[in-house]
Amino acid sequence: MFKAALCLLLSVSAPGIEAQTVSIIPKPAQIIAKEGSFTLTPDMAIAYDAACTEQAEYLLQTVRRSTGFRWKEAGKKSRAGILLEIDTLRVPAPEGYTLEVSGKRIAICGHDKSGVFYGIQTLLQLLPPEIYSASLQSDAKWSVPCISVTDAPDHPWRGMMLDVARYFYDKDFVKKYIDMMAMYKMNKLQLHLIDDSGWRLEIKKYPRLTEIGAWAGKNEKRLGGFYTQEEIKEMIAYAAVRGVEIIPEIEFPAHMLSAVAAYPWLCCTGKQHEVPNQHFISRDLLCVGKESSYQFLADVLEETVALFPSKYINIGGDEAVYDRWQECPKCQAVLRREGLEKTSDLQGYLTNVVANMMKEKGKTIVGWEEIIQRGAVSQPVVAAIWHNVADTIQATRLGHKAILSPATHVYLDFPEGRTPGEVKAATWMPPISLEKCYSMPTGEYAATGTVLGVQGCFWSDQFIHGTMLQEIAPLNENRSENYAEYLTFPRLLAVAELGWTRTDRRSWPDFRDRISTHFARLDHKGCTYRVPEPRIVAEEEIDGKVRFTLAPSVQGATIRYTTDGTYPHAHSAVYATPVTVDNKSDFRAITEIIPRHASLPLYFAPDYSAYARYGAFLAEWKSQQLASGTLRIENTGAMVGNGTFDITFVRTRGSGRLNLGKLVQFKRDEQLAEVPMQTVLDANTPAVTYRLTQTAFEAGVPFYFEVEAAPEGDIAGYVFVKKVEE
Ligand code: ACM
Ligand code: ZN
Repeated sequence: MFKAALCLLLSVSAPGIEAQTVSIIPKPAQIIAKEGSFTLTPDMAIAYDAACTEQAEYLLQTVRRSTGFRWKEAGKKSRAGILLEIDTLRVPAPEGYTLEVSGKRIAICGHDKSGVFYGIQTLLQLLPPEIYSASLQSDAKWSVPCISVTDAPDHPWRGMMLDVARYFYDKDFVKKYIDMMAMYKMNKLQLHLIDDSGWRLEIKKYPRLTEIGAWAGKNEKRLGGFYTQEEIKEMIAYAAVRGVEIIPEIEFPAHMLSAVAAYPWLCCTGKQHEVPNQHFISRDLLCVGKESSYQFLADVLEETVALFPSKYINIGGDEAVYDRWQECPKCQAVLRREGLEKTSDLQGYLTNVVANMMKEKGKTIVGWEEIIQRGAVSQPVVAAIWHNVADTIQATRLGHKAILSPATHVYLDFPEGRTPGEVKAATWMPPISLEKCYSMPTGEYAATGTVLGVQGCFWSDQFIHGTMLQEIAPLNENRSENYAEYLTFPRLLAVAELGWTRTDRRSWPDFRDRISTHFARLDHKGCTYRVPEPRIVAEEEIDGKVRFTLAPSVQGATIRYTTDGTYPHAHSAVYATPVTVDNKSDFRAITEIIPRHASLPLYFAPDYSAYARYGAFLAEWKSQQLASGTLRIENTGAMVGNGTFDITFVRTRGSGRLNLGKLVQFKRDEQLAEVPMQTVLDANTPAVTYRLTQTAFEAGVPFYFEVEAAPEGDIAGYVFVKKVEE
C-alpha cells in the first residue's frame, strides 16, 4: 500500500524531476523519471541482437575511450548489465526505441537499427558530458538516473544540407558532421556536391569533372578538392552505422559552371569558362537542346546512384535564369517540339526526363522548390521549400512531398545576431538567432501529410573561397572548418528538435534550459560552437537607473560584466546578484566557459526610432574617423534587390560641419552608380539624402559605397537607407 502511494507520488512529480536531471535533445515523446540510479562499472557485460552489432560496437567504443571500461559479451541476455534488442512489435514506430534504466540494468529496444542507435544517444545524454571525450576521464562518476523513455520521431526526415561544393570539406570533416548530426538523431545528409565553384564527386566516365572542375585558381595556389568513389563509400558506411542516409545532390540545370568549365559543350554557347574562385551564380545552364546533355546526365546519375544506396537522388534545380535557353536555337526547338509555353517550362521538361530515368532505378527525385514550380512534373517528387513554408500547399496540391528548409529560420550560414564582433556570414537576410531558428513554424503545414520533415542548410558560398572569409584574420590553419562549426552549433540542436519532437512537446523556455547543459557535451566532442551571451531575465527602470537580472545560458559557466562600457575580460567582476547602471549601454556582460572561451558581450543597440522616416540604420560616423576625406560604408545585404534607394546622412551631435561630395557604389571592386552632391551637413541642415538606383543586385556579393566626406570641427551622426516605393 505504502509502495503504491510512493510510486504515484513519483510519477506525479515526474515533470519536475525531468526538468532537473534530464535534458535530452531532441525532447523525447515520453519520459518517466524514476527513483535511484544505475552506475556503469568496468566489469559489466553487454548482450545484443546480431542485427545491431554495429550499433553495439559503436557504444562499446564510445564508452571505452572515456571510461576505460572494456565490457565483455554476456553469455545470456539475463546476465547483461546492458541489453540492446530489436523488436518491431514492442516498438512499432520506425526509428523508435524504448530505454529502461533500473537499479539493475539498462535495456534499449529499437524498432530497427536506427532505433537502437537513438536509444544509445539518449543513454549517452543521461551520462555526464565526459562520456563523449576521446580520452580517459578518471574523475567522472558514470551514473545514469533510473528512467523509462518511450520515443520515436515525429518526422521521418531530419536533415542537414552541407555545401561541400563552394568549399571543399574533406572526408574527415564530413564524418565529424555526420557524427554530430547523429548525436541529435538527425538522419539525412544532403551533400551539395556540385556548384558553379566546384565539382566534388569522382565520375569515372568524365575525369575532367574533377581534374578541372574541382579546382579554382592555378597551380599550387589552386583551391578545392573532390571525393574519390572509395572515400564516398567510406562516408556512406560511417553514416549508415549512425542512422544517417547520405543523399547526393547533382545540381542542374544551373549552378554547374564547374562541369561546364570541364566540358564546355554542356552549355548552350559551348564557350570555355573557368571555375570561379569567388561567389558567383553562372547564367550558363546545361543546354536542353543537345543530345549530349541527356547522355551526360544519364551517365553521371548512373554512376552516382550506383554509389549511394539512398532511395533518393537530389537534382538541385534552384535559381536558374533562362537567358541562355531563351537565346539558344536548340533549346527553343525543344520548346516548340514539346508544345511548351515558356522557356522556364523547359526546366520542368528536363526534370521529367530525369525523373523517368531515375524511376527505372527505383529512386525518388528530391530538389529545391523550383523543381515543382517550372512546369508540371509527372512523378511524385520531394521539394525542399526554401522561401516560404506556406508554399508546401503547392506540393500538396500537385501530389508531391515537401521538406521544410526556410532560409528565414534554418539557413545556418546566417549569423545569430548583429552584435559587434560577430563573425562575418551571410547577409542577404536578417540574422537567425537560436530562438528564431527554434521557433520555425512547422505545425500547420506538417498536418497536411505532405511534409516529410525539416532540413537545415549550411551554405559555404558567402564566406569560403569568397571575400568574406578572406577578410577574417587567419586564426589557425583550420579556420574554415571551425567557422562552419561555429555557425552550425548550437543551432543544429534546434533544427534536430524541430524535426523529431511533436509541436505540442516543444517550448522555447524548456529548450533554452535543456540546451544550457549541452555545451559541455559539445566541448567533450571537440565541436566548436557559438557561445551564447548571458540571458537577461529582467531589465527594470528604477529611479532613472537600469537594473539587470541575468541568468547563465550555459550551465556551469561564469558571467562577467562591466558597468563602464568596456569589454569584459577574465578579471572583470563576476555576476552574482542584479546589477544597476546609470546608462543601459554602459552595461556589458559575457558568458565565460573558460577564460579563453567566452561569448561576445551583451550589446544594446542605440535607439534609432527618432530617425525611422529615413529607413534602416546603416552606419555610424564621427569627424575623428574622416581624416582621409572619404567614408567607406559596407552595405552588403542592406539594400536587397534592384530599385531606387534613399541614403540619408544625419547629424546627431557636434558643432562642426561635414562637407559632402559624390557617392560611388561598388560591387566587389567594380564601380557601379555614382551620385553627385555638393553640400554641407550641420546644425542648420541636419539631414542630406542621396538617391541611388541599384541595377546589379546579387545576393551574397559584397557591396559598398565611398562618399566624399570632409569634416570641419567636431560632428557625428548616422547613415540610414530606405527603399523608395515605385
Ligand atoms: C538556395 O538557397 N538557393 C536553395
Ligand atoms: Zn541550349
